[in-house]
Amino acid sequence: MSKKGMIVAGVMSGTSADGIDVALVRIGGPRDVKLLGHAGYPYSSKVRATVLSSMNATSARVADLARLNFLLGELYAEAVVATQRRFRRKADLVGCHGQTLYHQGEAAKFLGRSVAATWQTGEGAVIAARLGVPVVSDFRPADMAAGGKGAPLVPYVDYLWFRDSRVGRIAQNIGGIANLTAIPAGAEADEIVAFDTGPGNMVIDAVTQKLFGRSFDRDGKIAGVGEIIEPVLRRFLRASSFRAKPPKTAGREEFGREFVSEFLRSCGKARKQDVVATATALTARSIAEAVQRFAVNKIPTSGRRSQKWGTPSRYTFREIILSGGGARNATLVSMLAEQLAPLGLVVRFSDEFGLPSEAKEAVAFAVLAYETWNRRPSNVRSATGAEKPAILGKISYA
Ligand SMILES: Nc1ncnc2c1ncn2[C@@H]1O[C@H](COP(=O)(O)OP(=O)(O)O)[C@@H](O)[C@H]1O
Ligand SMILES: [Mg+2]
Repeated sequence: MSKKGMIVAGVMSGTSADGIDVALVRIGGPRDVKLLGHAGYPYSSKVRATVLSSMNATSARVADLARLNFLLGELYAEAVVATQRRFRRKADLVGCHGQTLYHQGEAAKFLGRSVAATWQTGEGAVIAARLGVPVVSDFRPADMAAGGKGAPLVPYVDYLWFRDSRVGRIAQNIGGIANLTAIPAGAEADEIVAFDTGPGNMVIDAVTQKLFGRSFDRDGKIAGVGEIIEPVLRRFLRASSFRAKPPKTAGREEFGREFVSEFLRSCGKARKQDVVATATALTARSIAEAVQRFAVNKIPTSGRRSQKWGTPSRYTFREIILSGGGARNATLVSMLAEQLAPLGLVVRFSDEFGLPSEAKEAVAFAVLAYETWNRRPSNVRSATGAEKPAILGKISYA
């Protein structure tokens, strides 16, 4: 194996708050990335509960939030150390996304001013001190300061990894939130379109927890024996956020506790498995509708005023590449395949491209950290809506 480049550990913990994913990659350049190994470390149920309640405005306490920042720093460092041991490689640099506590990509009035805000926690200085290497963390604020929504950031890596000169592809990640990156055949970086499609596993997880006492619907077994409650599904698909034009972001703020209570109320006395099936269908249909509305139908994004879609043939998407934990939910995947087949899209998995489904986002933050370390901007302006390129993240030196 080539000795050139550096080894970077990417650390991801998403809105599902299921745990920490670590990827060790060797990077020789932004287009020369090799996955050396990856591993997942579930949060203990107490940590998960604390992370989830920290995202909840009515239960969060400021002292606990401050403590959580340092505690997560320790947990991230331990996860990297365990991964290094397992693959007998040591990272030269770490890129850590952190745990999002709050994300409001769109500016709103606050104290008489117009403010957008985001908050990722997990102290980079702690990770740097434990590992003895520099850490890039807190990636989103720089894009927001440049006028962007701070999300999504992974499209930069989707573009590097999945673009093809002849095949238009859609990379669809299904984490807590679901997001897509549409990469036209032969696209340049700023021609790609990316946005959050809505809930990924978040609503499925919450109803499964509530009705079955399990943290998720493993392999989609419960949804698989349920029936979709069509009127409920249609009602929730009418939400304006699904129709809004990209760039757009979604979060726990939108599909969290209140949304789930409302969803459960609407299901009334339905069988429990039908509720889970309907939550699963909400994810599948909102993704399929987003693909149809904003990718296949060639509607230009409003991200950059100058952006125009090219000739229609370049925007014929033939493959949708799934990643994230939701790619393991067989019922969700088959619902998606059924919805997308009429649009001429074939479902594939990120694993087939050498990028294990659960490792993709961790790999992405390794690559983004590498770019930052080399002082290169890595926000995709057509995806975030930023006015300027931005070098993402803050560096903690060891
Ligand atoms: N075998 C599986 N069957 C069904 N769902 C799964 C499976 N494995 C993971 N998931 C789902 O994926 C979620 C975690 O996905 P992940 O990509 O880590 O999301 P995030 O980035 O939000 O943390 C879990 O909460 C669960 O809903
Ligand atoms: Mg996760």
